[in-house]
Amino acid sequence: MEESAFPMPSSRHDTRRSFLSLLLGTVAAVFSASLLYPLFRFVWPPAAKPGGEGSVAIPVEDMLVGQSRVVPLRGEPVLVIREETKVVALSAACTHLGCIVKYKGGGVILCPCHEASFDLNGNVTGGPAPRPLTYYPVRIVGGKIVIES
Ligand code: FES
Repeated sequence: MEESAFPMPSSRHDTRRSFLSLLLGTVAAVFSASLLYPLFRFVWPPAAKPGGEGSVAIPVEDMLVGQSRVVPLRGEPVLVIREETKVVALSAACTHLGCIVKYKGGGVILCPCHEASFDLNGNVTGGPAPRPLTYYPVRIVGGKIVIES
């Protein structure tokens, strides 16, 4: 019987080597994907979903006349006010130093931090605020108050 110049590995040794190669390959693939995925998302960001985070819908019956509430819209606080004849949505972040404003009724919005005041159009009516509050368009669709950014 002729002996080979290279020793032949046992089948058990081959199985262990194959398993380790497969394991190392899998670990390398997962590691590479975890490094490349953020880069991929940076270069090709996901498209914004229509009607997703860029809008808020509040059932009309959940807001009585004279009520207000702060809702998140694209991560920003928005003050929604329902009055007798209209619904208003304004940025709830005061333009002075960013405190959350509150609706006091009678068309007056107040900032609790340094007493800036605004009207229902967002215009500054008093205090240190340098700019008006940002206005958001409001629609009533299918019994819901829809605010879009
Ligand atoms: S933060 Fe609103 S008045 Fe200063």
